[in-house]
Amino acid sequence: MNPVIDANTTKKSAGFNQEDWSSAYCNVEKEYQNTELELIKGEVPKDLNGTFYRNGPGRLERKGDWVHHPFDGDGMIASMQFKNGIVTLSNRFVRTEAWEEEERAGKFLYRGVFGTKKSGLALSNVFDLRLKNIANTNVIKLGEELLALWEAGSPYSLNPETLETNGLSNLKGALSDNEALSAHPRFDPGHYNDPRMVTFGVKTGPKSTIRLMEFSTKGANTGCLITERKDTFNGFAFLHDFCITPNWAIFLQNAIDFNPLPFLLGQKGAAQCLKSNFNRNSKFWLIPRDHGVSAKTSPRIIDAPDGFVFHHLNAWENNNEIYVESIFYDDFPSIEPNQDFKKIDFTQLPEGILKRCKINLLTNSIEEKTLSNQCCEFAMVNPRKVGLHARYSWMATAEKETGNGPLQSIKKLDLVNGKSHTWTIAPRGFVSEPLMIPKSSSTEEDHGWVLVLTWNGALQKTELVVLSAKDLSHQATLRIPIKIPHGLHGSWVDSNELLMEK
Ligand code: CO
Repeated sequence: MNPVIDANTTKKSAGFNQEDWSSAYCNVEKEYQNTELELIKGEVPKDLNGTFYRNGPGRLERKGDWVHHPFDGDGMIASMQFKNGIVTLSNRFVRTEAWEEEERAGKFLYRGVFGTKKSGLALSNVFDLRLKNIANTNVIKLGEELLALWEAGSPYSLNPETLETNGLSNLKGALSDNEALSAHPRFDPGHYNDPRMVTFGVKTGPKSTIRLMEFSTKGANTGCLITERKDTFNGFAFLHDFCITPNWAIFLQNAIDFNPLPFLLGQKGAAQCLKSNFNRNSKFWLIPRDHGVSAKTSPRIIDAPDGFVFHHLNAWENNNEIYVESIFYDDFPSIEPNQDFKKIDFTQLPEGILKRCKINLLTNSIEEKTLSNQCCEFAMVNPRKVGLHARYSWMATAEKETGNGPLQSIKKLDLVNGKSHTWTIAPRGFVSEPLMIPKSSSTEEDHGWVLVLTWNGALQKTELVVLSAKDLSHQATLRIPIKIPHGLHGSWVDSNELLMEK
């Protein structure tokens, strides 16, 4: 299926207004430092203390030229600091080299991976392969560095307090010059006693090489590379995310091909040259983690179900079985060169379905199970359960029971019995990635809060919402003084962790 954006799409689709949704796509106009947020409703829990960092595209238009896809927008970091019931906001664009150049020039000077062209004549895009590192996909803290991540380049290092950009980081010498680093690290909560950050970089072509890296996140070696390995696999790989268990790093090689010609000719962005290949299987690539029971052995390659996966939820082990939970799409949802992302027709897009695959390592067989039929994205488990059998998951979902739609609800799903809680702001509100924050003093898996930035289509404003993780009951809504476009990923740094590091 080829997703279509129909220029004649009626403005009103089922349950939401297209303009309410698309109105979030605008430039972030102002940068704040430690501005107290106005509480509109409820009360901010006094025992929720730490910083919610969030990344996403913040610059989408220059002098009437629009990015072709919001994923091409420059990274803008928002940090929301929670302290005894008060929340303060700081926000700042990542000062990437390209952002500074384009700010000075007042126009787009670089092509985007998702099809954004340079301002000016179409021919100026031909054979111009320079891409800008837009640092817009995720933001995480590793040691003293706050890192703005974008998977086709090295991370940008920021000051965790002021969000000032220090420049590209090589992670204490672990990365070579502008080596690509995934935007989806997984935080191992302590499967080998101490917590770690596990991440990867990939070089792809007819063969693909994955560099798997593990960094210390506690103690004297915080931020240092502890261990790494490199493995080469046959075929092209588009790997946005992965997941971990105590013994394995798990990748899903989607069955898609890359045709570079339209990219070379300046007709398409690199990501627009990806196409599903229904003649071959997707594969699970299982790489043994160092210090695990299969350390130093070769990777395992096992056929995976059909479908396309951007994001995984979690994975865990049970003797010779590995369970992998992922959001599957029927096809790779692409944006064609003549389409306007603001007029996207959701009914023509494949929906994201949460599924669990049981991989039997003795027989190389797979069993597949659908966990929920409701279109979802941005799913997570309690961070203490990463790599382990987790009972609960929190995610953003469409409002409708089936089919694609904009994300308008937060759902807590019991992965054992299928029961769920939902918090919705349909028809005029839209949600982004929810972040589950466990209560530090509790061992109950669903004890804590959920934070989410929302877009209020009626008021044309961004809001910060706090929910109870247990039943998604509303705790607080705060007004954000800037409009923040629908964004990508974020993370939480607990103030207890900050104290421990110092
Ligand atoms: Co992602």
